[in-house]
Order: sequence, then structure tokens, then C-alpha cells
Amino acid sequence: MCKPIKIGDVALANPLILAPMAGITQLPLRRLAKEQGCALVVSEMISANGLVRKGRKTLELLESHPSEQPLCVQIFGKEPRVMADAAQIARAHGAAMVDINLGCSVRKVVRQGAGAALMRDLHGLAELLCAVRRAVNVPVTVKMRSGWDPSGDQAVAVGRLAQDLGMDAVTIHPRTAVQGFSGKADWSVIARLKESLSIVVIGNGDLRSPQDVVDMQQKTGCDAMMIGRAAMGNPWIFSQTLDLMNGRTPKAPTLSSRLETMLRYLHHGVEQFGETRAVRMMRSRLCWFVKGCPRSSGFRKAIVRLETAREMADTAQAYFAWLKRDWLKNADPAESEFTVGL
Ligand SMILES: Cc1cc2nc3c(=O)[nH]c(=O)nc-3n(C[C@H](O)[C@H](O)[C@H](O)COP(=O)(O)O)c2cc1C
Repeated sequence: MCKPIKIGDVALANPLILAPMAGITQLPLRRLAKEQGCALVVSEMISANGLVRKGRKTLELLESHPSEQPLCVQIFGKEPRVMADAAQIARAHGAAMVDINLGCSVRKVVRQGAGAALMRDLHGLAELLCAVRRAVNVPVTVKMRSGWDPSGDQAVAVGRLAQDLGMDAVTIHPRTAVQGFSGKADWSVIARLKESLSIVVIGNGDLRSPQDVVDMQQKTGCDAMMIGRAAMGNPWIFSQTLDLMNGRTPKAPTLSSRLETMLRYLHHGVEQFGETRAVRMMRSRLCWFVKGCPRSSGFRKAIVRLETAREMADTAQAYFAWLKRDWLKNADPAESEFTVGL
């Protein structure tokens, strides 16, 4: 049975969280995840320097919608003062929680001493965590990798430090900073962290199916699970996981609900970014939703050339009408639930 959890004083209806993903977990995708029962969504990482300088593009990343609350805003940077100011700006824009990025291993970020580089300097990290903790009266969390060596010792040390300095939760993606996304996430590091801490531990890494989510909780004892790449084009992973956790058979989305979700995504995109930008973005993103479908390459070829949201909606509708008419016509009625890609 799936239980509610609390991070600081923020109550979450269930333990499922959408991971921060730069350029991906913008407002439109976060809204879809919430619609499918995800309890907490996290913004993509936002530069603390950019926020403090009030860069227009950076501030835009803080835009939110009431339906996605509680929203956790993730910030990255190195300077304690700047991070504290950035946390206050995020809070003033409605963040219900602030997450500090200790996991980004992209060279540009690590070279500035931010992201995963912070895990190498516990003294500097302590100053930064204290500054952010003092700056806001909402839960503060950190998201990290295993560290710079695979043992997980660094993650445990950073987790303990975070707990001692008043952080409310720790997320761990158990790959090293050098590993990038190669190899497998080592869930045993999540279990070690959970054994070592009393604050909320959020497990992350390689959750590709509802069963993976249940397995991670059983194998590691973590309090909540964070899903990243598997939610791209598949927000149903949240509703299906909730089904599985509550003893129901996970229901695959029907073709109609898949189409409706794509159209809602497009609509959320236009509302957030305006038509020109949204159409450019949606050229690749709508294709996520038809991965594995018959003749999806035809859909992809058509959609990348389109210039308006109306044309995109019409093309998606025509493709799904074809799927229903020609592809499903001989299928068992029980098959009208669409299972490709699960
Ligand atoms: C395109 C992309 C962008 C990401 N951006 C961020 C980010 O901004 N902040 C962060 O903490 N992690 C970021 N991550 C890492 C994810 O949050 C997550 O830790 C990782 O993808 C492992 O989870 P998964 O196996 O469920 O995808 C990103 C991952 C991807 C694939």
C-alpha cells in the first residue's frame, strides 16, 4: 500500500517524484506528471547567479502553475551568499521547497566548483548549506550522485552533513560523477544512505517501469522514488506505479487518452512559451509519445516540418485515427488499451 510522506512540513500524497531534467522538466511536462498522480515535481536546475542577476531567461524558469504545487525549485551554484539569495528569489516566486544541486557532472558546471564538485569540499559545502538553510523557511533538500568514487562513502558523508545542517531530504542518483549515465545505478548505495540517515531519503536511477519503482523501495528501504527519463513521453508511469503499489493491475493508456495527453502537452506548451517556441520544442517531444507505435516514422517526418500548433494537433489526430481504424481493427477489444512502450 502506497503511503503519504512528509518532507519538512510539506505533505506529499504519495512517494513518487519527477526528477529535475534540464531542458525537459519545464512547466508543460511537470503539469502532465501531476495530472497522472506524481506527488512532487522539481524544476530543471536553475543558475543561482542567473537568478541573482535577474536574467529574464533565468527568471522565466521559475514560472509555475497552481496545479503543480507543491513545486520544488532546484538551484545550482557555488557561492553561499548567492545561493542563499537565489533560494529567497525562488521562494518569493512560489517554490514550496528548494533543492540544491550536488550532482551535475557537466564539465562547465563542475569547472565553476558547482554541482558534483561541491561533494569534494565538505567545508565549503557546509557553508553553502547553512547559508541556504538560514535564507528560507521552507524545506531544503539536496540531490547528489554517489560522489567521485563508486564506494558510496562520499555520499554517506555528504548525507550526514546535510542532515546535521538541517536539510529535510536527500536524493541520491547512485552513479559516480565520472560515470555520467553509463553503467548501472548502484542501488546498494541508496540502501547504505537510508541506513545512515533519519531524514527522508529519495532513491533515483534507472527506474524504467512501475515494477522497478516497487523493487527499488523494497530493496533499499528508501522513503520516496524519483523518476527521470522514463517519464519523457510517458507520464502514465506515475499512475501505473500508484496502481501497482495499491494492489491494482496497472492500466495502460488507451489510444484516446494518449492522444488527449499529447494535445494537452502541446496546449500547455503554447500557454507557457507562445506558439512559435512551443511548436519548435514539440517537434521532438510529441514524437516521444508514439515511440514504438506502428508507422511512427511517418508521424515523425510529418511533425518536424510543421509550423503551427493547429497543424500539429491535426497531424496527431489523423495519425491516431489511422491507428484506431487500421491498426486496431483486427485486435481483440481488450487490446484497445495501448501497450506499446510499457
Ligand atoms: C536530459 C537530462 C537533464 C538532467 N538535468 C538535471 C538537472 O537539471 N538537475 C539534476 O539534479 N539532475 C538532472 N538530471 C539527472 C536526473 O535528474 C536523474 O538523476 C537521472 O536522469 C537518473 O534518473 P533516471 O534513470 O530516472 O533518468 C538530468 C538528466 C537528464 C537525462
